Amino acid sequence: MDPTTRRAALKVGAAAALAAGLTAVSAGSSPAARLPLTPACTDGDDTPGNIEGPYFKRNSPLRSDLRTAGVTGVLLTLRGTVHSEHCLPVPGALLEFWQADDKGVYDNTGFTLRGHQYTPADGTYSLETIVPKDYVDAGTHRTPHIHVKVQPANGRVLTSQLFFPDTTTAYGLDFAQLNARDRFLNRKCTLALGVLSDNHYAANFDFVVAA
Ligand SMILES: [Fe+2]
Repeated sequence: MDPTTRRAALKVGAAAALAAGLTAVSAGSSPAARLPLTPACTDGDDTPGNIEGPYFKRNSPLRSDLRTAGVTGVLLTLRGTVHSEHCLPVPGALLEFWQADDKGVYDNTGFTLRGHQYTPADGTYSLETIVPKDYVDAGTHRTPHIHVKVQPANGRVLTSQLFFPDTTTAYGLDFAQLNARDRFLNRKCTLALGVLSDNHYAANFDFVVAA
């Protein structure tokens, strides 16, 4: 399928899935379990890259739960699959996540809200975290985003950022306005988000990388 057509199909598919009534159930009963996957990979339309930004740190802990002691905010359970350009699940892929907290601050001395994990045989991943807040860095106002690196074993590193839909509700922010003014925003890297329930969002994002 032509990449443009596929992106359009993905958009429609994601919108339809959300319109179909995705509901996050109460915290503690795995809201992500009810969130359908984003449309399946159908061709070599790789996940777009984005800037690394100034706050990446090496040697993050191996963990998929970033909600360590003291972390507060709107809870986010993010799940998805790492696919190859041939649409096969990629086992053993390294996923590295880092993000700001609910005040728009990165932990640059420790490893709060930083962690890495490896995909199992089915290429899936799961991340327990919070929705980050917007922040201003060197005069640049950044909309809420999660930084990510994805690297298949012996493959190239994809460095990118994940964004939130305009309709996201967190910290009294106007996500539509924040997204609109962020020059690094890439709508193709917007999470499919469920409905906020008990201060908890479930989300899905599938990566497509050269493996
Ligand atoms: Fe950032």
